[in-house]
Amino acid sequence: MRKNLVVAIDGYSSCGKSTLAKALAKKLGFIYIDSGAMYRAVTLYFLRNKVDVTNEDAVKDALQHIELNFHSRDYESHILLNGEEVSEEIRQMPVSELVSEISAIKLVRKDMVKQQQRMGKSKNIVMDGRDIGTAVFEDAQVKFFMTADPKIRAERRHKELISKGDDKTTLEEVFENLAHRDYADTTRKESPLTRADDAIILDNTNLTQAEQLQFAVEKVNPFLESQAQISIF
Ligand code: DC
Repeated sequence: MRKNLVVAIDGYSSCGKSTLAKALAKKLGFIYIDSGAMYRAVTLYFLRNKVDVTNEDAVKDALQHIELNFHSRDYESHILLNGEEVSEEIRQMPVSELVSEISAIKLVRKDMVKQQQRMGKSKNIVMDGRDIGTAVFEDAQVKFFMTADPKIRAERRHKELISKGDDKTTLEEVFENLAHRDYADTTRKESPLTRADDAIILDNTNLTQAEQLQFAVEKVNPFLESQAQISIF
């Protein structure tokens, strides 16, 4: 049985998984790992290097040339692609438009899952994504499955893009991108997005960030208490 605590947060695109994951990690002193950022960074590499995704050898070769690292500042996770900080670029539309296709590739998933499992071997972590509770950490002690009204999700994401200086992408484009990614993520062959049987559903359509954090903390606390007891005895 694992000694470190793993909190798995899965759910649809742009329903606030990373906001909750970051806040929860900060509150509990856990390490936050954004698994989506890893798929996005791989996608950016594929885009920049025009990797032919239909050619298995080309994909294999590309993966061998990708090194991903996280560094954390104030619980904001920053991702480095071969030493270059790409946290901003991976959130832009060219990557968002291709990431579902890239993350559906078996070889890509195998590589990412291996790295994610290594990151969650010994420390208390919160990891968010699509397959964390169902494939990466089936034995996670606490699993959340997040969802929210698609219209609200698109509005939140659109606002975020504007705040980052993107005033070209329309709300309709964001809505369509989310709908496309939800469809692709839930219907793909490799580890599709689905709720683990033991995941707690968290619909945050009408919740504030403080309310959803409190809800999540209450679910994790009992496990933290028993972890503290185990370390005393
Ligand atoms: O969480 P996000 O929107 O940044 O993730 C980007 C894409 O990566 C998402 O559309 C699906 C994919 N993804 C995945 O397949 N598995 C994960 N564990 C995390 C993300």
